[in-house]
Formats: sequence, structure tokens, C-alpha cells
Amino acid sequence: MRLMNKAQGLTGELVVPADKSISHRSVMFGAISQGTTTIHNFLKAEDCLSSVAVFKKLGVAIEEKEDVFIVHGKGFEGLQAPSEVLDAGNSGTTMRLVMGILAGRPFTSTIQGDASLNKRPMERVMGPLRQMGGDLAGNEGTQYPPIAIQGAELQAIEYNMPIASAQVKSAILFAALQAEGETTVIEQACSRNHTEQMIRQFGGTIEVNDKEIKLPGKQQLVGQEVHVPGDISSAAFFLVAALLVPGSSLNLKKVGINPTRTGILDVLANMGAKITQSNEDTQNEAADLLVESSSLKATEISGEIIPRLIDELPILALAATQAEGTTVIKDAQELKVKETNRIDATADELNKMGANIEPTEDGMIIHGPTPLHGAAVDSHGDHRIGMMLQIAALLTEEAVELNNPEAINISYPEFFNDLDKLAKERV
Ligand code: S3P
Repeated sequence: MRLMNKAQGLTGELVVPADKSISHRSVMFGAISQGTTTIHNFLKAEDCLSSVAVFKKLGVAIEEKEDVFIVHGKGFEGLQAPSEVLDAGNSGTTMRLVMGILAGRPFTSTIQGDASLNKRPMERVMGPLRQMGGDLAGNEGTQYPPIAIQGAELQAIEYNMPIASAQVKSAILFAALQAEGETTVIEQACSRNHTEQMIRQFGGTIEVNDKEIKLPGKQQLVGQEVHVPGDISSAAFFLVAALLVPGSSLNLKKVGINPTRTGILDVLANMGAKITQSNEDTQNEAADLLVESSSLKATEISGEIIPRLIDELPILALAATQAEGTTVIKDAQELKVKETNRIDATADELNKMGANIEPTEDGMIIHGPTPLHGAAVDSHGDHRIGMMLQIAALLTEEAVELNNPEAINISYPEFFNDLDKLAKERV
């Protein structure tokens, strides 16, 4: 597909799509709670629809009515043995969180993914779940999907997380809700806390003290009304686009600003970005962000901020190609096990367009500023790499061809339509 290039400034306003992490969890919490959960602004993108399909196969009634999704939960006990293999598609969140939910259910199930997900590591989830008494096994003795889950009685554990991962943490918490006793999870760096927040929202008891989480077992949750805010991880592409394309002034509306997700705003502020927050809605942790074109300077991105911006590193790397100086990204080895190896994919594809990025074992060294030029590039089947490359193309004079653009439907089906509304090509 030929991408938009030679963009004039991005102007106007945009309500970015709903948060993917919260949309997945709202279906899951609805399914394991007693009563009705009504989800407003559910993200109708492939990943979250994979979660809906999985819970339908587990016997949960889920309806789409006008602009809401309604989940008719019957508690953990209401989940039924599926008659077919569960399919998580491309979604790591679906697979890993469902493993935590099904580890404690008294039936056998198998969950698989697409070619990308079937190569992603699952021992990180199976290990702690086995410590709780869970019985999970990967394909032919490996740690990779399809994962066979034989439901078991679970016991609470104390678990020191060896990696910062909200998916692993959430899988343990879903298992812990069903276990005998109180589970303690200790994080090494704070990752997104939507699961903890929603346990509270759905009437559960949870204690969080900085990096230590304590969750009593055998809890019954109650269905709720959920309002999903905009996804800062989707807003990120337009934030960086407006910073980099001269003459831009763009208002991004109702963006989720949960502090465990806003690392990108801290980094961009350090780089000299002009971003102003207004209209804060404290109940839904959302605000409007006004972004204006800015000259950026290099920075270092490392340590505890990494989990607060893990999905934004490809687009931050693009921002760094246009910043004055050398940007260093470290401690981000998790990027290698995302939908694709995002260190290699970001460096390879942007270097084809004239960037100067050295991939490292745990990040990238980016020398800027470098002008970008036309090239034939590939999303590697990864939605965030695809969107990042379209934003890069806005800066080129020559055409950019993107292979595998359909990957973008995973999180942002309206991405190209939204871009068309905000940007025009120079003639
Ligand atoms: C997510 C957690 C992160 C993130 C993913 C969504 C979640 O993954 O990259 O896009 O919803 O919990 P990890 O937990 O593997 O870091």
C-alpha cells in the first residue's frame, strides 16, 4: 500500500480509539463477575474481538447493542468447558490473561494463537501458575502455544516478578482471585495497573503498596458499568506526527492518562515537546492533549520508565530520528518478544528510510536528526510498526510503500481514515 507522504501540518481534533488493555479486561471482568457488565466505548478491533470470541466459547452471553457491549456474567463458576480450541488470534493479552482465569476452572481447555502469538513466550505465565497448583503445558513440551490447561484447585503464592509485565501480573491476579489464601505479587517496576483497578471497581478487595500487591482469594465480583477512555498507545502515533510535521496543532480528546501509561508524555516533555493537557476527567483518568510542532532534542529512555511506555518505543524511536543528538533506549529487551522483534523491526525499517539506528541487546542507539526518504517497508505483521512507518512516511518527499498494512486492524481499524481527516499531502 502506498502511504501518505509530504504531509502538511496536522490540524483539528481527534477522539482516539478506546483503550485496548481496558477493553480486554472489561470483557474478562464482566465474564467472571455475577450480573450484567455494560461496556461503553469498547474497542472494536481484532485483538479485543478475540477476547469476546474466547468468552463466548466459554459459554458467556455477550451482546452488542447500539453503542455498548453487554456481558452477562455468572461468576467464575459460570464458565463452561469449551467444545473447541480457543483462539486468541494475535492477542498476547487474551492468551495470557485467559490462562490465569482457566487455570482454576474445573475443566480442560486448549488455547492457541496466530503464527506470531504461537512463537511468543508463555513460560513466564505457566511458571507462576504451576507454583499455584495449575496444570498447563505448551505444545510438544515447549513453552509455546497451543497451551493445554487442565483446571485445578489453586493455592495462593508469594511471587517476585522476574520481568516487568502487566500480562504476567494480571494472569497471576486472575488465578489468585480463585485460589485458597492471600497471594502476594511483587513487581520489579510498576507496569500498567488496570487489573488491580478493575478488581476494586468490580467490588473486590486488593491492597497495593507501591510494587507490592496483596490479593485475598475466593472472591466474588459483581458486574459494573465500564467507560473505556481513549488509548494513549494509539494517541501516541498522532502525538509524534503533530510534533514532527511542521505547522501542526492537533487536539487529541479523551486520552487515557493513567500514570502507569504516561511514560511517553514524560519522555516527550524532556525532549522539548509542546504538549498541553486540559479538561481532565478524574473519574475516567482521561484528558485532552494539545500538541504543537516542536524541535526535539535527544534523550535517554531506560530503567523504571520502560514498562510505562513499552508499546510506545517504536514511535518514540521515530521521534528520536528527528531529534538533535543521540538518543539511547536501554532496558527494553521485552521489545524482542512483542508481536514481532520490535528492536530489529524498528531499526531495519527506519534505516531503509535513511535513519541511523543501531539495534542493541536491550534497546537502540538513535543518531539524529536524519532526513527520511522514500522506501519499500514492512509492518512485520505488527500493528505498531505499521502505524509508526506511516507517521515516518509523512516526513518524506518520495513515495513509501508499506507491505502488510492490514496488521493495523489489530488495535486501530480507523487509523488511515483518521489520518486522512487530519493531514493533507503538499502539492
Ligand atoms: C499489555 C501489557 C503489555 C503490553 C501489551 C498490553 C496488557 O505487555 O505490551 O500491549 O494489556 O496487559 P507485557 O505485559 O508483555 O509487557
